[in-house]
Amino acid sequence: MARSCAGLLLALAVGLPGTTLAQDTAPAAQEFGGLPPGEGREEVYGLCSACHSLMIVKQQRLSKAAWQDTLKWMTETQGMPQLPPETLERITNYLAEHYGTDGD
Ligand code: HEC
Repeated sequence: MARSCAGLLLALAVGLPGTTLAQDTAPAAQEFGGLPPGEGREEVYGLCSACHSLMIVKQQRLSKAAWQDTLKWMTETQGMPQLPPETLERITNYLAEHYGTDGD
């Protein structure tokens, strides 16, 4: 499922005259709605922003278990498509790492 977004990001980065690629402010960082880079970002962006703002995701600080519950709830009651287990795992790990309770 990996698409060639690296090339696109590179092209964007190259096309920004004199812009510092500061983590949160650079346009390239906004490419995925401001989601930090990491495995699972594309899925989170594509999937979760289909129904609601990513803000609703980014403002959360949840443990991995709580993210699992949230995504289960999202699937069972909000109409999120059922995901293959490995995709679900990747997304959960991404969310727990970047929007988790430990670490930061
Ligand atoms: C099919 C539509 C749909 C998709 C896809 C979807 N959501 Fe949601 N999500 C909703 C709806 C609708 C609500 C608001 C539910 C409510 O407040 O009653 C919501 C609410 C939420 C909330 C807030 C929960 C709370 O406690 O208020 C979080 C967090 C969330 N979604 C995360 C995600 C994540 C992460 C993804 C992607 C993996 C995702 N959603 C994908 C429909 C969706």
